[in-house]
Amino acid sequence: MTRRIPEPYRIKMVEPIRQTTAAERRLALEQAGWNPFLLKAEDVYIDLLTDSGTGAMSDRQWAGLMMGDEAYAGSRNFFHLADTVRELFGYAHTIPTHQGRGAEQILFPELVKRCRGERPVFLSNYHFDTTKAHVELAGARAVNALTPQALDTGAAYDWKGDFDLARLRDILEAEGDNVAAVIITITCNSAGGQPVSMGNIRAVSELARARGIPVVIDAARFAENAWFIRRRDPAYGEASLADIVREMFSHGDMFTMSAKKDGLVNIGGLCCFKDDEALFRAAQVRCVPMEGFVTYGGLAGRDMEALAIGLKEGLDDAFLSYRIGQVAYLGERLREGGVPIQTPTGGHAVFVDAKLLLPHIPPEQFPAHALACELYLEGGVRAVEIGSLLLGRNPQTGKQEPSPFELMRLTIPRRVYTNDHMDYIADCLIEVKRRAAAVRGLAFDYEPPILRHFMARLQPA
Ligand code: F0G
Repeated sequence: MTRRIPEPYRIKMVEPIRQTTAAERRLALEQAGWNPFLLKAEDVYIDLLTDSGTGAMSDRQWAGLMMGDEAYAGSRNFFHLADTVRELFGYAHTIPTHQGRGAEQILFPELVKRCRGERPVFLSNYHFDTTKAHVELAGARAVNALTPQALDTGAAYDWKGDFDLARLRDILEAEGDNVAAVIITITCNSAGGQPVSMGNIRAVSELARARGIPVVIDAARFAENAWFIRRRDPAYGEASLADIVREMFSHGDMFTMSAKKDGLVNIGGLCCFKDDEALFRAAQVRCVPMEGFVTYGGLAGRDMEALAIGLKEGLDDAFLSYRIGQVAYLGERLREGGVPIQTPTGGHAVFVDAKLLLPHIPPEQFPAHALACELYLEGGVRAVEIGSLLLGRNPQTGKQEPSPFELMRLTIPRRVYTNDHMDYIADCLIEVKRRAAAVRGLAFDYEPPILRHFMARLQPA
């Protein structure tokens, strides 16, 4: 038996959580319109909705908060943050933003402006939902070119976050001047927190650069991606994580980052440029009215200090080995219990294949969302759907987009839960699997026009 890696920290402060009764959970879910997003967090026992902004900061980060310089302009914490970005990523220009989508909103319209074609398009391995929304708000289209290997959740493949290079090449040829940018999402959240290989990053970057197309890295989980490269690519077995990060980012021209993930903070984001000063200035101009002055971008000085510290802590080898090991442990428990999951497990979450677990529920009745509701009823565990409900309708035709996946994401916050919590989650889900045939699909009571999964109200079909 391989030895489990214990948490590489001791607990200095605790936050009590409370289990509810089955009757309380049923009432809470009914009041929330069968949508876990609308539950009160206090009615949740173990919260796996997201790994975004839900992590625990370290004693050093909390100490950093006390060192906040709350000057409106030119805060020393901004310079610490920009220096850290230069050191870790090799990018000269930093704009802090309130979170990842803040970076998207100040960058994408400028990329569209620069695009020479009539029908601008962004190409990605897979656009995250807010990323797709900001591409569309900027008047462009979002097209994905994910490796088909990612679609077979049962097949073990090391690089399920990769671009399908042949498809990318075809789209680049067909779209010509329309391509505003290529976005490399590391790790690929929507495919299961799956890594993108260094070879793929390099090849995508070469294809784009040969055509003068800018390469954007969506860097939310950059440290986890680096860890996977070291673990799985023999060419990097001896490399340091810092060197791997440097090399990954050398293949990009700019990055947007939700710092609420691998940046280990509860709020924050970044929009950074390697050397394109003109684009940096254009994004700064947009930052002022949207996010705030260019040296704080929606963050307090103390938040920027915590982020400067978090970016480095998030790259610590012992931390990442434990973190990704904990996700793998939950995955292993579920696999042993016969629950179908995206294999191998990714960096930040275990993705359960609801198409396989609940084959009697059609996509338009949202099998993965129904599964998330059952898991909550079973044990007070809150998970989230990544499937048809999230994907939504085609804005032109109003028809449901066909989703390649019906997944339920068990997203593990960083440094928050122990492996005992993982065991409890696995036990609950294995119990739900036993009565899977009786789980019913869901139908809308209220369907919001965009990003509908957040506010939708449903009921059993
Ligand atoms: N890009 C990726 C890959 C993301 O996973 C997210 C957020 C964003 C961009 C947007 O960042 O939330 O800070 O504005 N993902 C969270 C999640 C919300 O639950 O996966 P944000």
